Amino acid sequence: MGCMDGKTGLVVGVANDRSYAWFIAQSIIREGGTCLFTHLPGEKMERRVRKAIDSLGIQDPWLRPMDASTDESMDELFDQLSSEHERLDYLVHSIAFADREWLKEGNFTPTPREVFKQAMDISAWTYAGMAHRASPMMADGGGMVSMSYYGAEKAVPGYNVMGVAKAALEATTRYLAMELGEKNIRVNSISGGPIRTMSSMAVGGFSQILDWVEQKSPLRRNVTGDDVGDTAAWLCSPRASGITGQTIYVDCGYSSMGL
Ligand SMILES: NC(=O)c1ccc[n+]([C@@H]2O[C@H](COP(=O)([O-])OP(=O)(O)OC[C@H]3O[C@@H](n4cnc5c(N)ncnc54)[C@H](O)[C@@H]3O)[C@@H](O)[C@H]2O)c1
Repeated sequence: MGCMDGKTGLVVGVANDRSYAWFIAQSIIREGGTCLFTHLPGEKMERRVRKAIDSLGIQDPWLRPMDASTDESMDELFDQLSSEHERLDYLVHSIAFADREWLKEGNFTPTPREVFKQAMDISAWTYAGMAHRASPMMADGGGMVSMSYYGAEKAVPGYNVMGVAKAALEATTRYLAMELGEKNIRVNSISGGPIRTMSSMAVGGFSQILDWVEQKSPLRRNVTGDDVGDTAAWLCSPRASGITGQTIYVDCGYSSMGL
């Protein structure tokens, strides 16, 4: 029996079959769960996400557009969700955005106000925005998980404004956990190691980060999508029933090193 048997939830953030959200969905499905998906609006986006979901072996997936940068789009998505599904058991938030121009080494100090606000909005606030809309559907409790990175706590060259947004995401996790705990909804984040995805390739010097982690982490390797996917599925499942408000490292131990 899988730890997600009979569980249905929303997975936000599949762009292609290298996305962290794709690996998380794969693990949830392997553990017996059902995944519902979103894509950024537009035919091209839909086609790309549908292709990735097809490769998970899902027949006739539930897939709807959502641009998390507007309340209207989020409301529409959750209205559709609640009219077509009785309840949700979990939520996966695996999205982030910052203008890549400001993800270059040495380019944090002049970050413009609008760039800063947009990074905070899409990468941090949306966890609260989605939790607020999803929680009324989680009458039996459940688990929520989002994706963070070590750059939330330590300055990582090139990660810049995204590090600030991830710090906000981790704090958002704790405040959501505090308020949703009485509904038996657990809210956590994973601080995942670096993997090559569309988003991560926008971070200046990303290949050096991969090399550095491989040399310096206790496990002498980078994480795989499965490492993170399996932890996310477990955190969403009743097997993690006593864990909430946490940021769990899945980083081959890199964050435990002093040097
Ligand atoms: N790849 C890494 O090294 C790494 C490490 C730690 C954490 N993370 C985090 O993992 C999460 C997923 O990123 P990924 O690396 O899988 O990259 P990805 O590019 O595959 O996924 C990012 C997703 O964010 C979505 N997105 C961006 N703006 C959106 C909006 N306005 N509305 C809805 N969706 C939007 C994109 O459509 C995409 O699906 C992000 O939070 C990222 O910061 C990534």
